[in-house]
Order: sequence, then C-alpha cells, then structure tokens
Amino acid sequence: MRDGYGRAIDYMRISITDRCNLRCRYCMPEDIPLVPMKDILTYEEIELICRAAAQAGIRKLKVTGGEPLARLGCAELVGRLKRIPGIEQVTLTTNGVLLAENLSKLAESGLDAVNISLDTWKEDVYQAITGRDELGRVLEGIDRALEAGIPVKLNCVPQRGVNDGEWREFAELTRKKPVDVRFIEMMPIGYGKDYEPVRNEDILNQLKETYPGLEQDSSFHGNGPAVYWRLPDGLGSIGFISAMHGKFCESCNRIRLTSQGQLKLCLCYEDGVDLRAILRGTNSSEERLREAIVQAVGRKPQAHRFEEKNKVTEMKKMVQIGG
Ligand code: 5AD
Ligand code: SF4
Repeated sequence: MRDGYGRAIDYMRISITDRCNLRCRYCMPEDIPLVPMKDILTYEEIELICRAAAQAGIRKLKVTGGEPLARLGCAELVGRLKRIPGIEQVTLTTNGVLLAENLSKLAESGLDAVNISLDTWKEDVYQAITGRDELGRVLEGIDRALEAGIPVKLNCVPQRGVNDGEWREFAELTRKKPVDVRFIEMMPIGYGKDYEPVRNEDILNQLKETYPGLEQDSSFHGNGPAVYWRLPDGLGSIGFISAMHGKFCESCNRIRLTSQGQLKLCLCYEDGVDLRAILRGTNSSEERLREAIVQAVGRKPQAHRFEEKNKVTEMKKMVQIGG
C-alpha cells in the first residue's frame, strides 16, 4: 500500500492497552485516568482490523502498549495475529518486567522478535526513571528471550543528567551477547516535551573515540529507521534512531493503531481515523475497514515537525500511543 508520497506502508504498530506497570518519568510519570474496558478494542476487534490491514498490504505487526504484557492473553493474541494470511512477522515491544514469565507462551505463539525498553544498568537510576524496582526481572527477561532463540533489541532513551555515559555499558553488551542496542532520541510527545534530547551524533562520536574499530553495519536489521554500527568483535549491533536530529520520515513505512481503535498516521499529529466506530457501526465489514485504512494512509503526512513544538498536534501521552 502506498501513501500520498509514494512510500510503501507495510508495518503497523498496535497498542493493546494504555496501562503500564512502570511509571517512566518521560512517558507516564503518574497514574492517568484509566480508559474503561468497553472503550478498548477487544482481541477479536484487533484481529479483525489486522485482517483488513493485511488485505490492504500490511505485512508486519508490532504489539505494544502501555505495557502489552500487562494485558491478559497478550501471548495468545500474538499467535492469532501470526495466523492472519499475509502477515509475515509479529514482534513485541515491552518493558521486559513480565517477559520471563510469559516467554514460553510467546515462543509457542511464534513471536518473531522482542524489543525491550531499558535506559540504564543501575538499580538506583532504574528506580529514578521508572519509579519501580524491577531491573532484575528485566535482565532475566532478556536472558530468557535469548535462550529461547528470540532476537532481542534493547531500546535506550539517553537522558541528560540521568543515564549519561551508560552508552558504554550498552556497547559492551553487544560484545557479550547477540543483542542489538538502539539509542532513541527523546521526542517531544507528552512529557518528552520537557526534555532537551541528547544528540545521537554526540553518542556516536564518543563511541568512535572509545572504539576506533567501530564500523558501519549496513545489513538488514528490521523494519525501523535505525542506522547501525558494530564493534569489530561485536555479536550484536549498535543502532541510532535519530528522530530529532536525523529525520527519517522519507522512508517511513508505518501506521499506528491505538488501544481505542484510532488509526494514527504519524506520531506528531492527532489526525487519524476511528476504526472502532466503523467496527461497531452498522454494516461493518472487512472491506469497509480496508477502505478506511487505505484512504487514511493516502493522507499520511509527509514528515513530523518535532523541531517546532507548537506544530505537534498530538496531545496524547506516549503511554497512550505506544511509541
Ligand atoms: N521519545 C522517544 N522515545 C520514547 N519512548 C517513550 N516516550 C518517548 C519519547 N518521548 C520510548 C520508550 C520505549 C519505546 C516504546 O518508546 O522508552 O522504549
Ligand atoms: Fe510504561 Fe514504556 Fe511508558 Fe515506561 S516507557 S511508562 S515502560 S509504556
């Protein structure tokens, strides 16, 4: 499926819940009013939308939240999505806290890969960022996933005065384990607006100084906009998602479904289409859903305008969109 700028759109991120078991300061620092369950898409509804999306040309799905594993039955949903004709890959983004205990079910469901959000290796910093004391469970989740043979990527959002310098531990990890780590520049969505993003370029320069053998890695790494590097003896790679200082909108391949059934076209803007209304309305059909998806994709904006904060029309918090 092509959008109005000729970009091929084949990837959909699906938020299955707004709830989370952590309280990350840049995402969901305090409780936000809970959306009543009746407003959240059921798994049946999510599956119907994904079937229509696959008809429209979506090939890869990412299950996210909030924290997707905080919703009961997430692993079963992964299995159902995997069986949709046309869907080639189903992956998960999680904070990792509930990963170890869900791993065997996820592996049975055929999960293709997992992205784990982890900004620090220090217990006190973890507590300061997430408001919870769960680092141990996350680390266990990483190891269990690797043991199960599920490819792992770690997502780290560098934050000034919080996890400075920890890029070194992330880089060292790629030596010890076959894990890709990615540095994501903080975007001005929700509480992220209060941050001055650390430039990925600065981290890359420090890495180059520390590891003169660092080389660019142009092999294929997944669906995203990350640019990868590798230590000469690295088992995994080091990626940079430079949303702020390295606009990658021209190669954008994605749309997003919120837990309430809004199909979002770009993180930066509130524009979207209410697929739940179509699903729950009269004359709902796969064909009508497919048409609505194709039509919305046709007006996907050309690029974000994160550099001008007043141009960001998305008022939802990151936990309500799924990153
Ligand atoms: N900018 C960039 N990344 C963010 N995340 C959450 N909020 C932001 C933001 N404002 C990240 C989380 C997680 C992923 C789903 O999105 O750290 O890794
Ligand atoms: Fe939860 Fe992820 Fe948001 Fe942290 S960043 S509060 S783990 S959804």
